[in-house]
Amino acid sequence: MAARTRPRPGGCAPGSEADVEPVDLAVTALHGSVDDPALNSMNFLNEVAQHYPEAVSLAAGRPYEEFFDSALLHAHLDRFRRHLADDLGLDRAQVDRTLLQYGRTKGIVHHLIARHLAVDERMTVDPETIVVTVGCQEAMFLVLRALRADPADVLFAVAPTYVGLTGAARLVDLPVRPVAGGPDGVDLADLRAGVRRARAEGLRPRACYVMPDFANPSGVSMDTAHRRRLLDLAAAEDLLLIEDNPYGLFPAAGTDRRPTLKALDTARRVVYLGSFAKTVLPGARVGYVVADQRVGGSDGTVGPLADQLAKIKSMVTVNTSPISQAVIGGALLAHDCSLVAANVRERAAYARNLGHLVDGLARRFPVGGPVRWTVPAGGFFVVVTVPFPVDDALLHRSAREYGVLWTPMAHFYDAGTPVRALRLSVSAVTPAQIDLGLDRLAALVGDVTAGVGAPA
Ligand SMILES: Cc1ncc(COP(=O)(O)O)c(C=O)c1O
Repeated sequence: MAARTRPRPGGCAPGSEADVEPVDLAVTALHGSVDDPALNSMNFLNEVAQHYPEAVSLAAGRPYEEFFDSALLHAHLDRFRRHLADDLGLDRAQVDRTLLQYGRTKGIVHHLIARHLAVDERMTVDPETIVVTVGCQEAMFLVLRALRADPADVLFAVAPTYVGLTGAARLVDLPVRPVAGGPDGVDLADLRAGVRRARAEGLRPRACYVMPDFANPSGVSMDTAHRRRLLDLAAAEDLLLIEDNPYGLFPAAGTDRRPTLKALDTARRVVYLGSFAKTVLPGARVGYVVADQRVGGSDGTVGPLADQLAKIKSMVTVNTSPISQAVIGGALLAHDCSLVAANVRERAAYARNLGHLVDGLARRFPVGGPVRWTVPAGGFFVVVTVPFPVDDALLHRSAREYGVLWTPMAHFYDAGTPVRALRLSVSAVTPAQIDLGLDRLAALVGDVTAGVGAPA
């Protein structure tokens, strides 16, 4: 955590005026985003975890590390190299240039991503509409940067909202208006009313950000009929939809996967964001965006929105590391571009953990009592509602005194919204750790409910 004060050599009494560290710049003289709760949120949560390394973490939405195998990197790289030579006909110099030189801004594994989307999602995507990005996070930034053209522009996002989206919007000065999520994943009446209200205020709604599959943090999914209704509403209200889908490959045991919004989109309403962080490996930092919306240029030319995003990318990260892309490309090729096939083991482990967590909650908290929880159809996250406010101070206490970490749901709402809920994640733990974490959480909840150890 950033030090407010630092004792200087020869030090003054703590708390005295002279104890305040001299500064060269006031944070208020920097872009407003750097002091925004959304940007502080990720750092705060990471720092708490680092501060209490002994605590069981039901906070981290990271992939399970026991599946990591760095020896596979070489195999992936080799496979992608052979693909460049054997399948695409590149000579030795061209292969080396592709892997080692500055490269194509839109990426070098776009054709494999298009194949993966066809195989796993039944999406027909022109590879030229794909931009390979430095994680999905960069894709969000590029899309929001492009959409935010005027101070009247606003974005809608289903609340609770992933902090990465809120933070990216803040970077480009794009206000985010919350839309109720509810049991269906998005409350269409609330979205319609919000869009109309914004227009009546002279604002320009640009898009609505949604996560139809096992959303982070709510865990909620949309059924197929509701996806179609959302697409109809987007058409009627002339709104783009930004679909973020990092967890779609991880349905719970016995649950079928549903078509993505993009697969149902026949009118280029959906900008689709993808990430390989959960399905291949997060350290590669590779994601992508499918942006097939037709953009008319000032010179009369027409091309996909992806081309405009690539221009922005050329000024942010130039191109996504070709070495990282090659690792992802090799991993895709190893399974005929099917990440469903590549993630059989992961899917089973996450589904088992999700079931274990939900059963474990039911064993520890009486049904019908004041503690309630969601039962998601897949993904990593369960939201637990408790009968007291959940804030960062309670998280610290939980880590320090009880040895368990979780995420206060307040981080996913507008700053200042008091929330009586926390998010649990099942992705980076074993069933035994889930049991231990839940025992500790139950002890914390029992004590807080009984007023044990409450601040005077
Ligand atoms: C909803 C959501 N979108 C995007 C991301 C970021 O993905 P990446 O690691 O590819 O930047 C995450 C990561 O946790 C996420 O939960």
